[in-house]
Amino acid sequence: MKEQMTRYLITSALPYINGIKHLGNLIGSILPADVYAKFLRQDGKDVLYICGTDEHGTPAEIAAAEAGKPIEQYCCEMFEVQKGIYERFGIQFDYFGRSSAPSNHQLTRDIFSHLEKNGFAEEKEIRQYYSFDDKRFLPDRYVEGTCPHCGYQKARGDQCDGCGTLLDPEDLLDPYSSISGSKNIELTATKHIFLDLSKLEDQLKDWVSDQLQWPDVVKGIAKKWLNEGLQPRCITRDLKWGVPVPKEGYEEKVFYVWFDAPNGYISMTQDWAATTDKPDQWKEWWMANQDVQYTEFMAKDNVPFHAIFWPAVLFAADMGFKQVNYIKGFHWLTYDKGKFSTSQKRGIFTDVALDLYPADYWRYYLLANCPETSDSDFSFSLFASVVNKDLADILGNFANRTLSLFQKYYQGLVPLQLQPEQVDQALLQNVEAHVSELGEHLKQMKFRQAAQTLRSLWVLGNEYITTKEPWTVTKTDPTSAMISLIHCLHLLRVFAVTSYPFIPEAAAKILTLLNDPAADQLAQTPFAASVNFSYFAKDHQLQAPFRLFDKIEEARAQELTEQYSGK
Ligand code: MF3
Ligand code: ZN
Repeated sequence: MKEQMTRYLITSALPYINGIKHLGNLIGSILPADVYAKFLRQDGKDVLYICGTDEHGTPAEIAAAEAGKPIEQYCCEMFEVQKGIYERFGIQFDYFGRSSAPSNHQLTRDIFSHLEKNGFAEEKEIRQYYSFDDKRFLPDRYVEGTCPHCGYQKARGDQCDGCGTLLDPEDLLDPYSSISGSKNIELTATKHIFLDLSKLEDQLKDWVSDQLQWPDVVKGIAKKWLNEGLQPRCITRDLKWGVPVPKEGYEEKVFYVWFDAPNGYISMTQDWAATTDKPDQWKEWWMANQDVQYTEFMAKDNVPFHAIFWPAVLFAADMGFKQVNYIKGFHWLTYDKGKFSTSQKRGIFTDVALDLYPADYWRYYLLANCPETSDSDFSFSLFASVVNKDLADILGNFANRTLSLFQKYYQGLVPLQLQPEQVDQALLQNVEAHVSELGEHLKQMKFRQAAQTLRSLWVLGNEYITTKEPWTVTKTDPTSAMISLIHCLHLLRVFAVTSYPFIPEAAAKILTLLNDPAADQLAQTPFAASVNFSYFAKDHQLQAPFRLFDKIEEARAQELTEQYSGK
């Protein structure tokens, strides 16, 4: 019997199209998902990593209006900008799509028709402001006026920025349309569609209580929602930009952005499949009867939608799609003890980050300090110290020492191929233990622990070369020094292979320095296969070392802290 191999489907929360994301967004979903995907690919697993932009909704409309661009054009441009940034970060999606693609329109309509047919859609009349001058109903955020609590005159229909109170548009005094400024607006009855989640409560409770292995933060949020009881949720909005509602009387309405966006995970997989010679193969990833392990990555604010709302939609539509197996939820990354803020320009945004330092510096720092079990704080001084110590002093220095000595003593040639009986067994076992522990952490998506184990592995190399002192020993026992150095060379190769999911660029550079014949297969080399101390043949030519990482001066870190404090 042919054994079917489990496939790994990975998605990370779709970043909103409006504007460039900050480091918190990156470490909260896309970056750890990339590490997991890279690790599984190295391990020979069949992996599909899907992501894309979340393009509908009021914030996108507002951002386009502020940029003075038609929404379609704005989204096209921002899609390219975001895609480019992730590429420069070394993120390797199998497909990066768009929630506004025709495939998602089609799928979202289909899902809606099914859940309507199954009796989960309910029409209700609600009262909403209609603007005569704009000729449209105004979503909450498009109504502004005076806050009844603090008197702030530019309070929005959903929230007052003066005092922070959550509002309904009807609460505002002297309301006006934020689109035209017109006060010619009136509360008018209008129909909307509600998804009746209460009918799914038992099914969802059972399903969530089966997910024992989910992280605590995810289980906690899911259970809190279920305990508070599921209310019918409005899934339509009075916007022009979005997926039109296929129903009479809804010509001016579109679906709520959270109703179409998660479907994007599926539709983007369809778009990916359409680029291959098997356009139907998206089903092998999304149909419930397939042997697929599906993992979603996101920050904790997204958990209710992924643990409750979207699963409810899929249950209600009952089209045979797969439900998520594991939700990897993250806490917040804070910036110098405060919030990242787009409007106040507080914090580091992904484009600026790449202009300042190579992607690997950020990847390593963010992963080693990720907000995995609690919030964590970014500061430039910690960033500098992590880069300087771990990357430059430990990994970089080891590479440099080793390769310089090969140049100095052996003109950059490997002087002999290690025979099995020459291999240092204690070192071998130690390395094997570290490498398998690292693999375990990654399998379990424990990124902080994984980074720590990786670092201890690098430390092991430094300790080894320091204890062996080949530069001293070579004077009295050149063969023994040679053997130690050849071990170091192979350690370097282990480091490159096992560091690849974290710092892919540096890993590739190390293999270039080693002139490894299999350098182009780094992305497919399993960790365990790198632990081989007889890999390099006699007379294999090595390259002269160059510096892998530059240190960051404390004064520079201070300067950057000032510059990006948002003051
Ligand atoms: N755009 C949302 C956010 O950044 C995430 C959407 S995830 C999806 O919070 F599943 F809806 F696509
Ligand atoms: Zn107020």
